[in-house]
Amino acid sequence: MSSTPTAKFKNPRARHNFLARTVSVTGIGSYVPARVLTNHDLEKMVDTTDEWILTRTGIRERRIADGNEFTSDLGAKAARRALKAAGVEPEQVDLIVVATCTPDMPFPSTACLIQEKIGAHRAAGFDMEAACAGFLYALEVGQQFIMSRTFETVLVIGAEKISSITNWRDRNTCVLFGDGAGAAVLQHRPHSHGLLTVVLGADGSKADLLKLPAGGSRCPASLETVQSGKHFLHMEGRETFKHAVQAMTAAAMEALRRCDLDVSQVKCIIPHQANRRIIDAVGERLGARPDQVFVNLDRYGNTSAASVAIALDEAVASGRIQRGDLVLLVAFGSGFTWAAAVIEW
Ligand code: UT7
Repeated sequence: MSSTPTAKFKNPRARHNFLARTVSVTGIGSYVPARVLTNHDLEKMVDTTDEWILTRTGIRERRIADGNEFTSDLGAKAARRALKAAGVEPEQVDLIVVATCTPDMPFPSTACLIQEKIGAHRAAGFDMEAACAGFLYALEVGQQFIMSRTFETVLVIGAEKISSITNWRDRNTCVLFGDGAGAAVLQHRPHSHGLLTVVLGADGSKADLLKLPAGGSRCPASLETVQSGKHFLHMEGRETFKHAVQAMTAAAMEALRRCDLDVSQVKCIIPHQANRRIIDAVGERLGARPDQVFVNLDRYGNTSAASVAIALDEAVASGRIQRGDLVLLVAFGSGFTWAAAVIEW
């Protein structure tokens, strides 16, 4: 892109972010497990049909990690690819931020496990949880560390093994999710624009609509919690759907407003991949053309915190996004949480 967007920032926060210290995604990578679980496979497991899943969600198949493949393994593989794309050695990484709601274990953090796996021995690391909006929350967290000059190179990872909290007898949820990971290397680049704005939001009053009820301090693991299936993901789908459309649309509009952009100026919109009908409704409300919206949900289902990162990586790898293009990312998840970001790629 030849023209600088600086002059367009009428909004003080966007201008401040831009001038403070620009943070770019200098490398992106993703990884999904090899095993494919198709809708036809699911027909043999629960009372469902390929037709129902495809028409109600847009999903055809999803990837499922092996029993001995954990969130940290998925995250480490995505991280290595992102580092390679950025031309960054693991020893150069200052901080690893992992967004996940399926960590290998409650502690130590999956970030520490990934640090060891990829040999990023200088890096600090921690996990954070904002469910399906996690990768965008983590991008903002990583950006802040660079803007404040605390760190130079931050590795942000969204990684999930949602199959580990899936009730394979519940047709309402088991057809929706998949495993995977995406990673981004964040660095200051003086002459590029990078992350232009990130919008974050949450509404804890809707916490019960999408949750993992047991295993925390409220409801520690017991025979009863296991027998009653409280260690599985629970979702009120229809209500969640409505809020997802509203919150994603509002967050995306706010991100565009902060950058004084019209949706037509965005080359590619990367929405959280939960349901094709949500994606289409958000695209329509934003006034986007269908060809602006990136979809890979048919192949991976909802990979939660990994979803936006995997989609962004695929959009870049396929040439849908070129250097200088404006990209709009938007996500929604349990909490409820939501987020949107504009990046000049
Ligand atoms: O990532 C975080 C955000 N997550 C989301 O945003 C997901 C939001 N929700 C959704 O995507 C959709 O609500 C679902 C895909 C989960 C469900 O679609 P829906 O159109 O809202 O269906 P519904 O829940 O209203 O269920 C309609 C019918 C029900 O049958 P009755 O009660 O009408 O007889 C369900 O029991 O479809 C039935 N049903 C199924 N039938 C076949 C639910 N799941 C299945 C299934 N196969 N897998």
